[in-house]
Amino acid sequence: NKVVLAYSGGLDTSVIVPWLRENYGCEVVCFTADVGQGVGELEGLEQKAKASGACQLVVKDLQEEFVRDFIFPCLRAGAIYERKYLLGTSMARPVIAKAMVDVAKEVGADAVAHGCTGKGNDQVRFELTFFALNPELNVVAPWREWDITGREDAIEYAKKHNVPVPVTKKSIYSRDRNLWHLSHEGDILEDPANEPREDMYMMSISPEAAPDKPEYVEIGMVSGLPVSVNGVKLSPASLLSKLNEIGGKHGIGRIDMVENRLVGMKSRGVYETPGGTILFTAARELESLTLDRETMQVKDSLALKYAELVYAGRWFDPLRESMDAFMEKITEKTNGSVRLKLYKGSVSVASRTSPNSLYREDISSFESGQIYDQADAAGFIRLYGLPMRVRAMLEKGI
Ligand code: ARG
Ligand code: SIN
Repeated sequence: NKVVLAYSGGLDTSVIVPWLRENYGCEVVCFTADVGQGVGELEGLEQKAKASGACQLVVKDLQEEFVRDFIFPCLRAGAIYERKYLLGTSMARPVIAKAMVDVAKEVGADAVAHGCTGKGNDQVRFELTFFALNPELNVVAPWREWDITGREDAIEYAKKHNVPVPVTKKSIYSRDRNLWHLSHEGDILEDPANEPREDMYMMSISPEAAPDKPEYVEIGMVSGLPVSVNGVKLSPASLLSKLNEIGGKHGIGRIDMVENRLVGMKSRGVYETPGGTILFTAARELESLTLDRETMQVKDSLALKYAELVYAGRWFDPLRESMDAFMEKITEKTNGSVRLKLYKGSVSVASRTSPNSLYREDISSFESGQIYDQADAAGFIRLYGLPMRVRAMLEKGI
């Protein structure tokens, strides 16, 4: 039998290869998804996987699919977890796990394995996706089974099994990077009282060191989805990397938070989401023109639930899919463009325009207009405030 392992080439997943062979007596097919974690990570990976004892390494470039089918729907929904988190890792797990299910079929594997710990969210996201897409696959999560407890243990296990220990210096932080974001956890961050060190950041320059001159960037959107930057049409993945570059240069999108993991514990994480922060601002500004009050309220309330589902690994849940149908419909007319000003860590709106704008200067203007008759307001307020008057009359015995 065969198992498909979500493989990064780091120490942990390198040790999992011989561990699976030893404990399950199976052939190991390593799988690495390119979700924009950075080119360096894919170099020399095949030799590495084979040196660890894998029979094969499969690499798939999932960047466009990731941005188009996972990131953009979350953006359109306005999905933010616990007021701050733009869900970078949460969105990446289902696209990777989905590809693993496909690879398992291609290579004839009956099991899948991942290197997530038993304390985190990622294990849930991988496994719920496996369940949803192929309930017959066996799932192996070595971290929940083995007695390797630390880095030293892992190195020793590797040596004993003649697996070359990855030479890349392990950072003190636990990081996860993709096209949308970079997350940092662990080490000094584990105490929420500690401010992150400046040298930790990788996608963004510090706001203090950002250019003294603001930069304007214009985002074009069609039906709630971004399509262009500064008038140039771009594919989803290239649009996002372009904005990461521009945003990172201005120190945009750093988020430091304490969040509630699905497994119940709190954890402290720092995220860099430069392009994503720009896109969320653009979408919100355009919606201020295209959505009316009640529509916006319903959308925002569903966005909370949407974010929760994505965070909890329930991407392939009919509830999330149905909510997407709603989001698609409700943002149908969110077309137009937003000009944003980037300056030392902040994104502010400079202008927004939409052919579907509900804003009418001839109605809203302080100059008097034809459509809105101020005299109408008197009757409106009397009826709108009727319950207030009734209550006050009762209290005063009128
Ligand atoms: N806490 C974030 C989340 O659950 C980030 C997790 C980072 N994952 C990792 N394997 N380093 O989405
Ligand atoms: C892990 O525990 O594998 C990473 C953190 C998380 O999944 O939340």
